[in-house]
Amino acid sequence: MAKKVLVLPGDGIGQEITAEAVKVLNWAIQNGADITLEEGLIGGTAYDATGTPLPAETITQAKAAQAVLLGAVGGTKWEPLDISVRPEKGLLGIRKALDLYCNLRPAAVYPQLADASTLKKEVVAGIDIMVVRELSSGIYFGQPRGVEDLGDGRKKGFNTLVYTTDEIERIARKAFEAARKRSNRVCSVDKANVLESTELWREVVSDLHKREYADVELSHMYVDNAAMQLIRNPRQFDVIVTTNMFGDILSDAASMLTGSIGMLPSASLGDQFALYEPIHGSAPDIAGKGIANPLATILSVAMMLRYSLELPQLADGVEAAVVTVLDQGLRTADIMQPGMTQVGTAQMGDAVLAALNNA
Ligand code: NAD
Ligand code: IPM
Ligand code: MN
Repeated sequence: MAKKVLVLPGDGIGQEITAEAVKVLNWAIQNGADITLEEGLIGGTAYDATGTPLPAETITQAKAAQAVLLGAVGGTKWEPLDISVRPEKGLLGIRKALDLYCNLRPAAVYPQLADASTLKKEVVAGIDIMVVRELSSGIYFGQPRGVEDLGDGRKKGFNTLVYTTDEIERIARKAFEAARKRSNRVCSVDKANVLESTELWREVVSDLHKREYADVELSHMYVDNAAMQLIRNPRQFDVIVTTNMFGDILSDAASMLTGSIGMLPSASLGDQFALYEPIHGSAPDIAGKGIANPLATILSVAMMLRYSLELPQLADGVEAAVVTVLDQGLRTADIMQPGMTQVGTAQMGDAVLAALNNA
């Protein structure tokens, strides 16, 4: 029986970029992928239609699917809503419901785009970083949390950064496993000098390393230094493993080494389920204009073909097609360079499809 792939376009440019990624999924179907596509609701769009950013039906659909492709959620329209029903809660909710604790965010520079970064070409050339971000715990989910009235005219806002040993160990394991397939180096990023929860993080990562992964080179870095080192000398990094919030921030920073946040795909993996999503958001400033870069989402489809659908040749094909369109000089606005041809979202998607069909 055909496997299901659930597509959740979400909000803002989520709609535009997933439309292009679906073209690639349809190409995969024509080329042997035994999958059927289904669409579902998440985020502000889901809230408008059903009163919740994460309808129960979406979870049911996701659990019945081999993989989920998500565009993006959020937008100014929904900012006034209570935080419990904001679009972002839909995304956090599906990550939690599917126990997607491991977010792989690869940041590699295409030579064609080495000039597109705001950093010097010689600094970013050749970088190949894998940010392994813990995704289902940490300060995003810790209790207690909230805003309380202190009764004296002041209020108190608070969140809790919690990690348990098992949560740290399972993400560290993913990082070591990833490193063994790459340059065999892991840098664990924490704030162990200040935060007890990440002092524990460092201890658990070190213990696991000693017990099972002594062949992998392990280093530790404080997050403030890591942010600086990413800009100073990004080539020193292979795999970076870190907490939910530090990973969120460092991966956006790492994306700019590659030229644009519109280039970075991701895989959000658990032991049972998998969701694929570009790392960027719904980009309200450009939504509806047809100019968003769809390549992060298309490259997320490649990750899906590789990790969830076990079709590495099709994944290779998609990644090669992205190289082809870059070689053709086609650029969306975010990666535009002098002498290149500027194209919109749909033109970029069509060009990838043409490259796939001509390969
Ligand atoms: P953002 O990632 O949406 O946008 C940041 C900047 O990058 C904007 O200038 C935007 O135009 C640009 N950008 C992002 N993706 C692009 C693409 N594919 N092509 C070209 N340019 C692109 O972050 P933000 O502005 O801080 O957040 C906007 C909304 O998105 C918020 O509601 C936020 O909560 C949400 N958000 C969602 C996700 C997600 O769904 N995974 C991730 C981040 C932010
Ligand atoms: C991301 C986003 C999300 C996060 C938000 C929208 C909940 O920034 O996917 O990187 O912080 O994880
Ligand atoms: Mn983010």
